[in-house]
Amino acid sequence: MTQDELKQAVARSAIDYVVDGEIIGVGTGSTANFFIDELAKIKHRIKGTVASSEATAARLRGHGIEVFDLNEVTSIAVYIDGADEINAAGAMIKGGGAALTREKIVASVSQQFVCIADGSKLVDVLGKFALPVEVLPMARAAVMRKLAELGGQPRLRTKPGADEAFITDNGGELIDVAGLQITDPAALETHINQIVGVVAVGLFAQRGADVCLLGTSEGVRKLT
Ligand code: 5RP
Repeated sequence: MTQDELKQAVARSAIDYVVDGEIIGVGTGSTANFFIDELAKIKHRIKGTVASSEATAARLRGHGIEVFDLNEVTSIAVYIDGADEINAAGAMIKGGGAALTREKIVASVSQQFVCIADGSKLVDVLGKFALPVEVLPMARAAVMRKLAELGGQPRLRTKPGADEAFITDNGGELIDVAGLQITDPAALETHINQIVGVVAVGLFAQRGADVCLLGTSEGVRKLT
């Protein structure tokens, strides 16, 4: 099976976690996109969605699925999203698709987090994937110096094929920190959150995945 077929299989199996009559939080990225396409087939069963990015909102609306502003919603039954890396405890690196801040916000108000990923995302130690950190633009250089002190190599994310900084849906910039061996994800999340100028860090450890569905060539495997 190709990586896309694995993502599609896992997205299909996540439909079992959709709660009828409720609001569903929807993540960002290629696996989340496959999930949106599956959700469209049962859209009559749900009340609506909250999206973790403008791209996700546009895809949901393109399928005729209602998208609520988070401020209009008091509870989200389940949040379904991909990951760049996940460990056996359900801690994740996210933000490869630049949506980490809104993903973290939507996840924080959801009763359950279901991570959907192809099997290649499962790791023993997080950090091979460069850790994304969203910052306010004026704090970029100061935050990069602090992140370098952690032993990683921080690098400003740029627009594809250009030298200009990539700008998130929130008007922030992204620093990707390579070379970290994250043995205590919750502690590092706390530490980076305390750096002034950081909007959010793409470590999802304090609120990790409650369930992880991994697409493998032997079928979909449930991790936690
Ligand atoms: C976006 C994310 C995505 O979940 C992550 O990048 C995985 O993406 P994909 O499903 O395309 O492999 O965190 O900010």
